Amino acid sequence: MGLFRDAGKAYKPAPEVDLGAHSDEFYLHANVKAPRVAGLLVKIFVWILESPILGSIVLYILKKDNLIQRLVSVAEIQEPPLFTATHSSEDISEQSVTPIKPNLSPAERVQEAASCLPPCLDSSFTDSASQFKRWTIRDFFRAYKSGETTPLEVARRFLAAAKETEDPKLHMAFFISYSHEDILRQAEESSRRYHRGTPISMMDGVLVAIKDEIDCMPYPTTGGTRWLHKVRPCIEDASCVKHLRSCGAILAGKTNMHELGAGASGINPHYGATRNPYDINKISGGSSSGSAAAVCAGLCPVALGVDGGGSVRMPAALCGIVGFKPTSGRLSNSGILPLNWTVGMPGILAATVEDALITYAAICDHLPFSQPTFLQPSLNFPLLDSMQSITNIKLAKYGKWFNDSTIDIRNCCDQTLKMLSQHYGWKIVDVTVPEIEEMRLAHYITIGSECTASLAPHLSKLDYAEIGWDARVALSVYGSFSSRDYLNAQRIRNRQMYFHKEIFKRADVIVTPTTGVTAYPLLSDAADTGELDYINGAALVRFSIAGNFLGLPAVTLLVGYDKGGLPIGLQFIGRPWSEATLLHLAFAMQTLCIKSYKRPKVFYDLLKKEQA
Ligand SMILES: *[C@@H]1O[C@H](CO)[C@@H](O)[C@H](O)[C@H]1NC(C)=O
Ligand SMILES: *[C@@H]1O[C@H](CO)[C@@H](O)[C@H](O)[C@H]1NC(C)=O
Repeated sequence: MGLFRDAGKAYKPAPEVDLGAHSDEFYLHANVKAPRVAGLLVKIFVWILESPILGSIVLYILKKDNLIQRLVSVAEIQEPPLFTATHSSEDISEQSVTPIKPNLSPAERVQEAASCLPPCLDSSFTDSASQFKRWTIRDFFRAYKSGETTPLEVARRFLAAAKETEDPKLHMAFFISYSHEDILRQAEESSRRYHRGTPISMMDGVLVAIKDEIDCMPYPTTGGTRWLHKVRPCIEDASCVKHLRSCGAILAGKTNMHELGAGASGINPHYGATRNPYDINKISGGSSSGSAAAVCAGLCPVALGVDGGGSVRMPAALCGIVGFKPTSGRLSNSGILPLNWTVGMPGILAATVEDALITYAAICDHLPFSQPTFLQPSLNFPLLDSMQSITNIKLAKYGKWFNDSTIDIRNCCDQTLKMLSQHYGWKIVDVTVPEIEEMRLAHYITIGSECTASLAPHLSKLDYAEIGWDARVALSVYGSFSSRDYLNAQRIRNRQMYFHKEIFKRADVIVTPTTGVTAYPLLSDAADTGELDYINGAALVRFSIAGNFLGLPAVTLLVGYDKGGLPIGLQFIGRPWSEATLLHLAFAMQTLCIKSYKRPKVFYDLLKKEQA
């Protein structure tokens, strides 16, 4: 008895926790006790975990070692559980926004968003030849409208580039599937619309890739597995894909992802490890790995991903692009694999903040019946052409947490904050965000329990040999949580919701690095089995959890590079429904950082004039 009895942490009632700068709350560094494992060792580990008695004992020891036991399972918590991350409608006042009328069509919303863009600066770009410029949706639209090129021409260049990335020399593993025929057909239709002078919207003819977890005809939805599409056929477009199609966008295939979204490296044993275009020997991050890497490499200006535990923001940061996850409930989850219900939702990966806005305009939604539409407040778009008017911004920073990242990340992000204060007069407010590591563990229990419940009917019929090794480890751990673990995790969710609401009384956004590490090496022993690297994994998700567990909107932007030339992301986490403010702040930051942007090593310029 004594051996297995474990004292749980006794939490103070949430209102008694000091959230100020000088709080004596202890910052707990992720205490992950598990070495990196790959290859044969992963297989042996799976064999142990899946064996009936030994497996339970090992799982028990693992949970205890990683503090799940003490901090969640047997903890004493005062608060009742909070089961979802939905927010009630609050009319928040935002600066420099334009309200959007309800019931506009996606194309009309895109039109509204387009009128929020700053005037085009393309002549000034030619001044600085060294500057790396990414083409935006508006650039494509102009090039099509002027007849400089056509959607068909760009689609052909896309297909040629996609093919080149599959070459054994590169083997980037961006896509799980894409159909030449289907892409060319869409491009021909779009080209005809431009020829007639009747493009549907600014997105007409723009290539958008879709994570293979979101239904998009005519492709199966694999979720990065070899089996899920066989038991769950894709029969129609997901809601967000339908909207993109109705705007004239060209759906450019299904991107690679971490199997079942159950990891952050983007190493997929069935479809290949997605490589980072800045350094092909590094990971791209996950789980929306292919979407991030394809945008980074210039194959499309935007792609869709799904974010259940930072899965859009992490790969976006590692690949140096924009990752944007709106408030939970802002976008429809219909047509997305239901791997977890209360933490996952679609998100946008874009090369620029302008394009994140345009895409957001296309896919934000009046939600179907099953989702609580009445909760959604009015929709605002940020007026990106009025930069000076967004002042008085307060950024909440928790120094110990912020510093729990590599030296390069910490210095670069700090430098960016200094620039923002100097340039825009934004103020840093020092705060304490308590119990970060506790929240990470509670979220892990939640996402794992939801994934198990959702997949159980399929898994019981499945031959496990179909599942990748690292996903099998995840499924074993996910299936080990008890109802007590789950309920206590939801009580921690309640505490965190309280803490975050209190912090948002003092500041507009919480600012953090997006990840604790930059892209790490892709090692060859992980190719078949994947790898178990919970130390890097914990460092990757360290700053992502509130976005999912609490349903808060968040955005990441490229702010610099580490010594090895790998991208560094800075994240803003916002109040519920404050998407417009987040995009505005990100755009202001982009304006300052864009001069230092560097071209990835693997990059395709789909609008280059003299291209053959
Ligand atoms: C949770 O679900 C979302 C989609 O709803 C997905 O992107 C994410 O990878 C999933 N994560 C896990 C751990 O199942
Ligand atoms: C964070 O690190 C910086 C140096 O990089 C240091 O000046 C600062 O005091 C640290 N803050 C905390 C709270 O540890």
